Amino acid sequence: MIDTRIDLAGISLKNPIIAASGTFAFGEYFDDYMDISRLGGISLKALTAEPREGNAPPRIAETASGVLNAVGLQNPGIDRFLSEIYPKIKAIDTCLIANVSGSVIEDYITVIEKLNDTDIPLIELNISCPNVKCGGMQFGATPESAAEATKAARRATGKKLMVKLSPNVTDIAGIARAVEAEGADAVSLVNTFTGMAINARTRKPILANVTGGLSGPAIKPIALRMVNQVYHAVKIPVVGMGGIMTGVDAAEFMIAGASAVMVGTANMVSPSATIRIMSEFETFMKEQKIERAGDLTGSLVVD
Ligand SMILES: Cc1cc2nc3c(=O)[nH]c(=O)nc-3n(C[C@H](O)[C@H](O)[C@H](O)COP(=O)(O)O)c2cc1C
Repeated sequence: MIDTRIDLAGISLKNPIIAASGTFAFGEYFDDYMDISRLGGISLKALTAEPREGNAPPRIAETASGVLNAVGLQNPGIDRFLSEIYPKIKAIDTCLIANVSGSVIEDYITVIEKLNDTDIPLIELNISCPNVKCGGMQFGATPESAAEATKAARRATGKKLMVKLSPNVTDIAGIARAVEAEGADAVSLVNTFTGMAINARTRKPILANVTGGLSGPAIKPIALRMVNQVYHAVKIPVVGMGGIMTGVDAAEFMIAGASAVMVGTANMVSPSATIRIMSEFETFMKEQKIERAGDLTGSLVVD
């Protein structure tokens, strides 16, 4: 018998596999391919105070072992989410996570205060989007600005608060410590790495935004290192992601220190990737005789 349930800052998840924000929309398109209630959780597409169309196309470029995206926080805005989308998804029997973004701190607070009236238990504060000119990653760039955003969000909600960290920094552990000190209940990492793709013949960037965020297997070793560093730096739970394509990849992130994991780019390869990864993870637990999924967290053996 294996027990896949995990505790994430007091919230019980059926298993540690969560769909990552921006790669699973609001869950609505995935119903045809799988039973999404089997997932540990779904991190919804970033929500902002006003609707956003996102950046001009092309917004996606395939690279070696990864994807560059510059979607730019396209979303219907918090009001349309609450009136049209939330009523359709609120009954899904999984942990819904609201990913919140904005250009200025007041925008984040507007969204969070409106979410306070929902049953969504967990807010993921996105201070790490590299694809918008204003806001996003700028809040995640220094311990001071990350602390300021976390402090304001903490004051605005009694819900659990998870801060999503940017990997485009020199000291991610210092930033994790700063958000923990301001009352974050968990941290999630990593968001995408700023990158670029060029067409040598036209000498133009492939993305209209010029730069984009790199995700997928190419970033996995760096993400694992960062998860391990942050795990040692804070006491709050860490949710790990970056290039998870298999159940064993998920186990590696947990061994590095993650309490749960998120799966992003893999959803762009196959819409049912999360369910496959979940069953591969269960097979790994059985094979390795791991009784409780949580026993894997931070179990890295360093001689
Ligand atoms: C197309 C696309 C859109 C994304 N949108 C968001 C977003 O809205 N909010 C967010 O916090 N992260 C967003 N991300 C980042 C992912 O949630 C995740 O942190 C990152 O892709 C690394 O995981 P992966 O390698 O499994 O994709 C997006 C990623 C992709 C590829």
